[in-house]
Order: sequence, then C-alpha cells, then structure tokens
Amino acid sequence: MAKNKLRRFREIKEWSNVFEPTLSLDHTEFFPLKGKWNQDYFQNDQPIVLELGCGKGEYAIGLAKHFPNKNFIGMDIKGARIWVGAKEAVENEIHNVAFLRSKIDFITSYFAPEEIDEIWLTFSDPQPLKPRKRLTSKSFIDRYREVLKPGGIIHLKTDSDLLFESTLEEIEEHGYTCLEKTWDLYGELPEDLDERTKDILHIKTHYENLFTAKGFDIKYCQFKIE
Ligand SMILES: C[S@@+](CC[C@H](N)C(=O)[O-])C[C@H]1O[C@@H](n2cnc3c(N)ncnc32)[C@H](O)[C@@H]1O
Repeated sequence: MAKNKLRRFREIKEWSNVFEPTLSLDHTEFFPLKGKWNQDYFQNDQPIVLELGCGKGEYAIGLAKHFPNKNFIGMDIKGARIWVGAKEAVENEIHNVAFLRSKIDFITSYFAPEEIDEIWLTFSDPQPLKPRKRLTSKSFIDRYREVLKPGGIIHLKTDSDLLFESTLEEIEEHGYTCLEKTWDLYGELPEDLDERTKDILHIKTHYENLFTAKGFDIKYCQFKIE
C-alpha cells in the first residue's frame, strides 16, 4: 500500500473526530455511539445531518461552517478520503462535524431510530450495472427510513443523468414526496432563493469540481420518504 495512504490511516486513528467501526469487520457488534451521538460525542442536542459517501467531506465541512447549530457526520468506506475532511475539522477546530468510516449498507448499526434529521447524497456512484447498489435504491432508502426522523429530508446532488433519472423513478414508484427538482442546478436556481440556501447549494465537492470542469450539468433534488 502507498506510504501516503498508510500515514493517513495512522493519523485518523489518533483523531477523536473519526470512527472506524468497520475495521473489526463484525457489524453485529454493538456500536456504542448508536443512539448517543449527541449525548456522548457532540454533547448538545442539535439536529444531526449525514453526508453519505462523503469522500473528502467537503459538503459535511461546508455545511458545518454554515450551520453551527446543527451536527454533521460524513460517512464513507475510504479512510484516505475521510482523512482530508477530518484534518480540516481538526486544524480549524470545527467541532460540529465527525466522520464515520464504514459501509453505508450498515447504517442502521450506527444510528438509532429517528436519530437523524437530514441526509445528503453527494455525487454518489451511479452504479450503471448494479442498480441495487445505488444509494437511492429501495433497499438503501428503507434503511434511511429506519434512522430518519419522520419528515426527514433526503438531498441528492449529482452529475449523473442515470442516477438522477433512476432516483426520480424511485420517488414516483414508491410514493415519496419530491420537494425540489432541477436538471440544471446552476442554470435554474430561482432568483428569489434566499442567500443562505444559494450558498449551501454552491458548496462544491471534489467530484463536483471534476464533473463541472468536464461541462456536466449538476442535478439536484430533495424528497421526503414518509
Ligand atoms: C464518486 S465518490 C463522491 C465523493 C464525494 N461525495 C464527492 O462528491 O467528492 C463516491 C463516494 O462514495 C463512497 N461509497 C460508495 N458506496 C459506498 C458504500 N456503500 N458505503 C460507503 N461508502 C460508499 C465511495 O467510497 C466514494 O468515496
């Protein structure tokens, strides 16, 4: 393994804002923060927002800076990517963000029913050949439903026509409530949108920068799954 990766893995082990329960590879073990993220980690009672497949965590960090009155957790399986966001949080003393290294498939092992207020899916893999692995497929949405508060919102930002279209189909097929939808986020932002929402939608992740540079339109939707 590359030296740089090994160094990153060593460093995140020492930071208190990264949790790596997946390393034990036993997802049946009880995760001590389940149901206690606020009580035992954030030590407040603020709403908790997840960024799933956070990569380097730009969205989790960006949102945490905008909303000091909410708590954010970025989740991804790739430790060397999480390292980037975790380092920024440590260096800038951003205390309302943490990172969880594990597969999203096991999300219900890490969060209790109704522990989560909102979910962001940022540039998730479109999985062209494995639709059931898409983070907006029914089996994933059913897991999110277990941990989300009633009325909790899911946001999806993507460059992928395939993922966007299949998500809109899932929304239609399963009767979720679509609250916002645009095929061209930056071309179609309503002029009367408040500045704060504009700022949030303009936070750009690593993958968003890559795809924008290639000329892809960025799609966005938000929906409820009650
Ligand atoms: C295309 S990248 C996007 C990363 C980041 N959100 C961005 O926009 O730059 C997708 C990320 O999702 C993660 N991912 C995909 N499926 C996952 C799963 N089932 N569990 C955990 N992480 C997953 C990958 O490791 C990868 O970092």
